Amino acid sequence: MMLPNYKEARKRQKVDYKTIKYKIDNKYINSFNNKTYFIKTYGCQMNEHDSENISAMIEELGFKKIEDYEKADLVILNTCSIRENAHNKAFGMLGRLKHIKETKNSNLIIGLCGCMAQEEGVIDQILNDYRFVNFVFGTHNLYELPIILDKTIKEEKQVIEVYPKEKDLVEGMPVKRDKSYKAYVNIIYGCDKFCTYCIVPYTRGSQRSRKKEDIIDEVKTLVKEGYKEVTLLGQNVNAYGKDLYKEYGLGELLEDVSKTNIKRVRFMTSHPWDFTDSMIDTISKYKNIMPSIHLPIQSGSSKILKLMGRRYTKESYLELFNKIKEKIDNVSISTDIIVGFPNETEEDFKETLDICEYCKFDNAFTFIYSKRENTPAAKLIDEVSLEEKEERLQRLNNVVNKYFLENNKKLIGSEVLVLTEGISEKKDMYYGYTETNKLVNFTGENINFGDIVKVEILEAKTWSLDGHVK
Ligand code: SAH
Ligand code: SF4
Ligand code: F3S
Repeated sequence: MMLPNYKEARKRQKVDYKTIKYKIDNKYINSFNNKTYFIKTYGCQMNEHDSENISAMIEELGFKKIEDYEKADLVILNTCSIRENAHNKAFGMLGRLKHIKETKNSNLIIGLCGCMAQEEGVIDQILNDYRFVNFVFGTHNLYELPIILDKTIKEEKQVIEVYPKEKDLVEGMPVKRDKSYKAYVNIIYGCDKFCTYCIVPYTRGSQRSRKKEDIIDEVKTLVKEGYKEVTLLGQNVNAYGKDLYKEYGLGELLEDVSKTNIKRVRFMTSHPWDFTDSMIDTISKYKNIMPSIHLPIQSGSSKILKLMGRRYTKESYLELFNKIKEKIDNVSISTDIIVGFPNETEEDFKETLDICEYCKFDNAFTFIYSKRENTPAAKLIDEVSLEEKEERLQRLNNVVNKYFLENNKKLIGSEVLVLTEGISEKKDMYYGYTETNKLVNFTGENINFGDIVKVEILEAKTWSLDGHVK
């Protein structure tokens, strides 16, 4: 048994990690023919992409994916720790699975992985109160899944294999991508920023960049396979390369990825602290690097930003924001905001509202602060009531939503390029995203999924646009 350990996870000594190649022993392949699996993913794009790797590994073992978890032989929950409600959702699902195991399918195998697996408290709970969970693996040993599953079946006891710290970086894991035209490509793992409220540096380990050659090769393969768009992923992509190279960072990587001639390149998330002028120049220079930047501000108050350990002020954020708006044509900027951080006064909150009025973000993900055990912010005294926080969130949402609609309305009558992804929920329309990452539902003839089409915008809503192909 290997258990998570927060003290270890917090350490940031120079690690000499190796890049190793994924290997699977032939004896595991197709060892579970005729069995079915269901995977539920919580959290961010990184987790979604991990689930694409997990699915592919499980399918190599012979499992087939099904959509009804009540009928599956194996259910895996790929969990998220970012806020308490992510925890609650996963535990709620475990409750439902327990019921299925007790009443309908006593052979059901239940696995848990992802960020919650890296939390000491969660593992304690699983060891004590959730004995029906068959196996747990962490974010640092996805690639060991075939061995862990084999051990679970053979030993018939709870298997917990979670590395407290990151290990080697594994290349060449199989992947079963969810979408046919858009692909996620990891470029950097972990996070060293340690924002005081955030659990990610503990659950995902030290910042480690993938070698540029491995990334470029992956993108070139995707182009050959017909993919139109890649999103370069990391908790802070702007730190790409710092642990590997002297003079090769995100700007240079974007340039090399752009030269593979993939139609669209996106990247997320960018921490404002590491955003350089040369990155901005590169984004504005290459037509296939999308003018869409996710730039989380978190708060408009420099006092709160300092308590959050974000390493920028309201003024320096605005300076960067203005520079990006000025230098990148037609750019859209989205953000993340936390309300109700400990010590946030009404004045601090008003500064957040003011900055939203100024920035008129194209999209914003807004959250109520959630205390995460063992993070530095958990020690701060929090005197703001939940009721007050909920009210602030509502007021904030009213402001940001107003600008989503206002920005969308400006597009009425214009022509935008949309990558066709599928049929919209309304059934009689296609849907896809603009270069600036806005959702468009549209009509037209002779359109194939994967086509990039020119759409005239006819109607604007808060979260989407309607149009017709020209
Ligand atoms: N690496 C990204 C953020 C990843 S988490 C970045 O730094 O920008 C996504 C968002 O969740 C964060 O931007 C933040 O707004 C929110 N978040 C993180 N921890 C949180 C917490 N403890 N409570 C509430 N929201 C949180
Ligand atoms: Fe969390 Fe901050 Fe790292 Fe983002 S940059 S993952 S908010 S610690
Ligand atoms: Fe959640 Fe882990 Fe992502 S905590 S947001 S799944 S990195």
